[in-house]
Amino acid sequence: MKAAILISALALGVVPAMAEDVTVGMILPMTGPSASTGKQEKAGAELYIAQHGDKVAGKTIKLLVKDDTGAADVTKRLAQEAIANDHAAALMGFGLTPLAFAVAPIATEAKVPEIVTAAATAVITEKSPFIVRTSFTLPQASAPMAQWAAKNGIKKVVTIVTDYGPGLDAEKWFGETFKHEGGEIIEAIRTPLKNPDFAPFLQRVKDDKPDAVFVFVPSGFGAMVMKQFIEQGLAKAGVKLIGTGDVTDDDQLNGMGEAALGVVTAHHYSASHDSPENKAFVTAFEKANGFRPNFMGVAAYDGMALLYHALEATKGATDGAGLIEAMKGAKWMSPRGPVEIDPDTRDIVQNMYVRKVEKKDGQLYNMEFETIPMVKDPFKATKK
Ligand code: DHB
Repeated sequence: MKAAILISALALGVVPAMAEDVTVGMILPMTGPSASTGKQEKAGAELYIAQHGDKVAGKTIKLLVKDDTGAADVTKRLAQEAIANDHAAALMGFGLTPLAFAVAPIATEAKVPEIVTAAATAVITEKSPFIVRTSFTLPQASAPMAQWAAKNGIKKVVTIVTDYGPGLDAEKWFGETFKHEGGEIIEAIRTPLKNPDFAPFLQRVKDDKPDAVFVFVPSGFGAMVMKQFIEQGLAKAGVKLIGTGDVTDDDQLNGMGEAALGVVTAHHYSASHDSPENKAFVTAFEKANGFRPNFMGVAAYDGMALLYHALEATKGATDGAGLIEAMKGAKWMSPRGPVEIDPDTRDIVQNMYVRKVEKKDGQLYNMEFETIPMVKDPFKATKK
């Protein structure tokens, strides 16, 4: 069979591509406090391959998932090993901003694409011309949240963010946009990334008596915030909880209980997004894994979609610069809605949705009720 194909291809003067492997080094926190990110991302990437086959443009995709435990020195070592030992043609994943930063010089030096499918500090894509992103940026989500809050009777806000890249982006872009729209930031609180305890901060928020508290915490920390928000009596004191969708993460939302009902957030993905593409995605994801996809799961699914697109465009050629060129301007229909890779910034352009936690079929979901179409990362837009 193979020989017949080869002969007919040669007869046509076509040189068939060798059946080579394209190794993808997917580096994720599979253990530690961000393990839910690793679990979701691995499931998203594997689902894409299962649905589309492991063959693209004559190449065979080999996914190697490596656990960096959330430690940047480990991420860096694993990236070096993936390139030197496994001959990885692309690196993917990066569960936290410092982990994505750690690999940027390696991607540049080795000319290997770094497909960021999790970390979301705006500046990440500027750290290497080989970085492209399918997750989101915190300014993308925080600015629409501020606009919605200002238009919906919220006048005074305390912000609480985790004290590192994405939290600082969220604080700045929520705060500046909200003030621009006439709102007031009473206090801007930052909590440590390691071993956070929100209780003392939430007590301070209660004393400040704002209309709402705006929260950013990375994926996996939302349930703890919600629990302490209730325990500290903030909901009873009439303080609303708002935030980016990281706090009502689909991976944990259903376990948060009825206290989460009514929480409004802005984000790019909800498992309840109403489209045929998303319904098919969620059904297949739940069937394969036994849990609901969150925004990390969909970003890894799309990271793989982007790599397949690029390999098709290069006809299977794996040189890094060619793959990155092929990714620029790529457009496709994601389970989250239409997406596009901005050719100038290599960052994702996507709809932002304002959502409210509601009960549907006995389960808690972020129900989208407003769409801001095709939002570019506003951080980069201001620099032009
Ligand atoms: C980052 C991590 C997250 O889990 C998240 O939800 C958003 C941003 C980050 O470290 O960039």
